[in-house]
Amino acid sequence: MQRKTPLVVGLFALGLIGITAFVLGMQYGRQSDLQPGTAAPTLADAKPLPPVSIVPGPGSQQIDAIRRGAAIDQEIPPPAMARVENTDVKRNRAYPMQPPTIPHSIDNYQVDLNSNRCLLCHSRANADKFQAPPISVTHYMDRDDQFLATISPRRYFCNQCHVVQTDAQPLVANNFQDIDSVLANEKAH
Ligand code: HEC
Ligand code: HEC
Repeated sequence: MQRKTPLVVGLFALGLIGITAFVLGMQYGRQSDLQPGTAAPTLADAKPLPPVSIVPGPGSQQIDAIRRGAAIDQEIPPPAMARVENTDVKRNRAYPMQPPTIPHSIDNYQVDLNSNRCLLCHSRANADKFQAPPISVTHYMDRDDQFLATISPRRYFCNQCHVVQTDAQPLVANNFQDIDSVLANEKAH
């Protein structure tokens, strides 16, 4: 114990010097050192932000349409679940590369590491038995456009791209124009 006293005193002195240097730096250090050439902005320089309406009114630009204009701190009753269209009627594709929507229900169709229910009907081998359209050639291509013998891993999880058709209304307005109407407009002018 006795022999350690000089060490304790030394450490204490060192700490005291450190704290003093820190306080002096806070008091007298130049703020402009932080940003060369410009003085650091103070609170007095701050301009008030333009007013933002947190509660979007019916006419305003809604950021989150899913909240349907409700205040951020309010809980709103969820909309009714959309009904799945299980009618086998295909919808048109909005553009050639659109993954077609699914014209049948897919309740309880399991897709995981061990089984892929979609491929039961949509694989090349079974498509005739179920009269289902087989997955197209793109589903066999890897990212270097090489054709694989079986479905490409990046096309394995069908629901990543294909969604079931429902009677849900669009959540946000959409002014997408089909290329056919774009071309027709161009021709007309
Ligand atoms: C029991 C067989 C069967 C299963 C399982 C099945 N489908 Fe189908 N699918 C069909 C048939 C048959 C059609 C043709 C339209 C119809 O009759 O509904 C079809 C149509 C489709 C289409 C429309 C293709 C187009 O050209 O418009 C898509 C997309 C599709 N299925 C995706 C899926 C996905 C994704 C799964 C798994 C979640 C799945 N299907 C599971 C039989 C099946
Ligand atoms: C990465 C997105 C993606 C995944 C994952 C995917 N598809 Fe597709 N699928 C597409 C696109 C895009 C098209 C339309 C263009 C094409 O044929 O590539 C399509 C087309 C289809 C078609 C119509 C084929 C035709 O000849 O018209 C069927 C059926 C289909 N997919 C079924 C499936 C099934 C079943 C799975 C899962 C095993 C699956 N898809 C996984 C993107 C995907």
